[in-house]
Amino acid sequence: MARLDQFIAASTPLSRKDAKRAISAGRVQVDGVPCTGANIKLPVDAVVTLDGQTCTLPGERYLMLNKPAGVVSATRDSEHPIALDLLPEALSVNLHIAGRLDADTTGLLLLTTDGQWSHRITSPRVDCPKTYRVTLSDELSESAVQQLQQGVSLRNDPQPTRPARVRVLEQRLIELTISEGRYHQVKRMLAAVGNHVSALHRVSIGAITLDPALEPGQYRVLTPKEIDSVG
Ligand code: URA
Repeated sequence: MARLDQFIAASTPLSRKDAKRAISAGRVQVDGVPCTGANIKLPVDAVVTLDGQTCTLPGERYLMLNKPAGVVSATRDSEHPIALDLLPEALSVNLHIAGRLDADTTGLLLLTTDGQWSHRITSPRVDCPKTYRVTLSDELSESAVQQLQQGVSLRNDPQPTRPARVRVLEQRLIELTISEGRYHQVKRMLAAVGNHVSALHRVSIGAITLDPALEPGQYRVLTPKEIDSVG
């Protein structure tokens, strides 16, 4: 947790003294509320603005977003809303997505400026488990569970999937953990066992779990522990 005046001095060209002046002059807002206390402690995910501009610390940025349905996991799309549209502009500069989701998939989306970090999440050579809550159109048979656990052949893909973990939660609701990220992988795996995905939600990537406090469309910065867990 940083003090507000320290944070302003570290994230803008202002000196500490000038940062204090700017704060007492009411030029600084924390989470949209004007703040004149130079020594308040900032929560890690506070959005601080100076004269209406969001302040970010230099260095890498790591965020989680609860992606709503209908938002495209892309940094540019002329027709549809994109994930970056849900973030303040100053935070979204140079961010990329570590592991995309289909437009109709909801849940955990990680965004970062750190290419090496995202590579450790997305590289097929690294075993980074991703867990999805999958709503199915039909009940999953015991033999389908076993096939998914052992690996299935996807259409137009000669390589069978790596063994997956399946947890049956309800009759038509399962949790599926996979360590690859092939195109439409979960939907194609369920199609391969004769089922159909009617809703898909990503719950976790490695040790990072979607924060239950985040409503669809909301984001927060990752904690140092979450960042270090990808290693
Ligand atoms: N698998 C899919 O089929 N879709 C996603 O969005 C993620 C994994």
